[in-house]
Amino acid sequence: KKTDNQMLVIFGASGDLTARKLIPGLFNLHLAGHLPKNFVVLGASRSDMSDEDFRDRVVYKSPYLKDKIKDAPESKVKAFADVLYYEDLGKDYDTDYAPLRKRVEALKDKHDTSGNIIYYLSTPPTLYETVAKNLADAEMNTQNHGWKRLIVEKPFGYSLETAQNLNKGLHRFFEEHQIYRIDHYLGKETVQNLLVTRFSNSIFEPLWNRNYIHHVEITNAESVGVEKRGGYYDKSGALRDMFQNHLLQLVSLVVMEPPIGDDAEEIRNEKVKALKSLRVMKDEQTLYDNTIRAQYVASEINGNKVKGYREEDGVDPDSTTETYAAIKFYVDNWRWHGTPFYVRTAKRMPTKVTEIVIHFKEPHHQIFQESGMHRDNKLVIRIQPDEGILIKFGVKVPGQGFKVERANMDFYYSSLAETYVMEAYERLLLDAMQGDATLYARADEVEAAWEFVDPILNYWKSGKDVRMYGYAAGVWGPENADDLIDGNGIWRNPGE
Ligand code: BG6
Repeated sequence: KKTDNQMLVIFGASGDLTARKLIPGLFNLHLAGHLPKNFVVLGASRSDMSDEDFRDRVVYKSPYLKDKIKDAPESKVKAFADVLYYEDLGKDYDTDYAPLRKRVEALKDKHDTSGNIIYYLSTPPTLYETVAKNLADAEMNTQNHGWKRLIVEKPFGYSLETAQNLNKGLHRFFEEHQIYRIDHYLGKETVQNLLVTRFSNSIFEPLWNRNYIHHVEITNAESVGVEKRGGYYDKSGALRDMFQNHLLQLVSLVVMEPPIGDDAEEIRNEKVKALKSLRVMKDEQTLYDNTIRAQYVASEINGNKVKGYREEDGVDPDSTTETYAAIKFYVDNWRWHGTPFYVRTAKRMPTKVTEIVIHFKEPHHQIFQESGMHRDNKLVIRIQPDEGILIKFGVKVPGQGFKVERANMDFYYSSLAETYVMEAYERLLLDAMQGDATLYARADEVEAAWEFVDPILNYWKSGKDVRMYGYAAGVWGPENADDLIDGNGIWRNPGE
């Protein structure tokens, strides 16, 4: 695909994301020759920095680029750093952008970037609309001389209402086709491969429904706690931080109907339909029975003391924010009627892993004796780490009789000859630069996800009979979560 000459203006350029993800992503694109010939990055934020300071911070002295720089020719590093610039917005993002505009125009002329601009919003989310408005006031959103695009970081909204308001607010200044809502899970190769696994193999898709699938399980675990983000996390929680966005994206890809083509709108239309078909939990009993929340408590891992969530910096000592969420739900459509979905996400788990497990129904009639307790076929899609796909199926135990044992057929991405796998942000940035929104969330998609999540959040907030469990760091969450999945086996705890 063609990548037009363009400029990338990053709002919030002194923040962590720019140094940790955006600049390294761009640097990789630069090394791989994917950046357009005429390209400029203009960082903007409230810190007082010169262009040189910015280059030092995000390139020359950046811990995130240290190793890459060592391996790259000096001239290549310099060529990259030389197109990075910085503009101090002063005290406030809510200000007159005329000076910014002047700078953009000067750089456009200097580097001949032809007026195509991506604005990347990596500011606190409360400022997204403010920045969009100020861009519009300075007439920096007009498409007259080159296209304009807006990339919006997560979190997109705090609830259904705030997400709707944000969509409305942004739509006042930018059209939907100009807006790219990032969800970095969509940038992961293995997540994209879900579409390919389902829709390019005749061995899976015919079985991909309520007739053959018993239940679907998705686990997202992280071994870290809230790290230095206690302040942010305490206002968010696992449901907002991971479930509403990343996990529901995975759900939509598992649930969706085949799109009629690989076009962004066709794929996203199907994803929206999938999200809209999730059965919204309305009454308290249903919410009580199907949702579990928990917090990690102070404990010891290998002799090291680990703080409990409520003791973390920036966290309210009486906090009721969940660091673990497990949700059981159904999908109300023809394909999935009656098939339960179990999705959980948590911090401070035994390991970092994300996987989707499709549990197939057992054969209707058993004629052989199984040696283990599991009689079902499983398809395990490992999103990360050890990216790959595992199929579990029955084989005969050698010897007399017909004893059956489960065997594994295991594919690892690392076995592919292709070694250059793009990082999520790298891939997503390149897509936006090329105007491909397939891997970005559309307004209606984000709202549909919130529609499902909102009642759970409200119920949890109400505190009425809402259980909050504790779990020690390094275990697979509260034991009570097993009740949720009861009758459908047990959670598959990867690595156990
Ligand atoms: C982010 C969350 O969106 O995703 C973090 O805010 C979380 O809390 C991270 O750690 C996980 O991403 P990944 O790619 O490491 O699974």
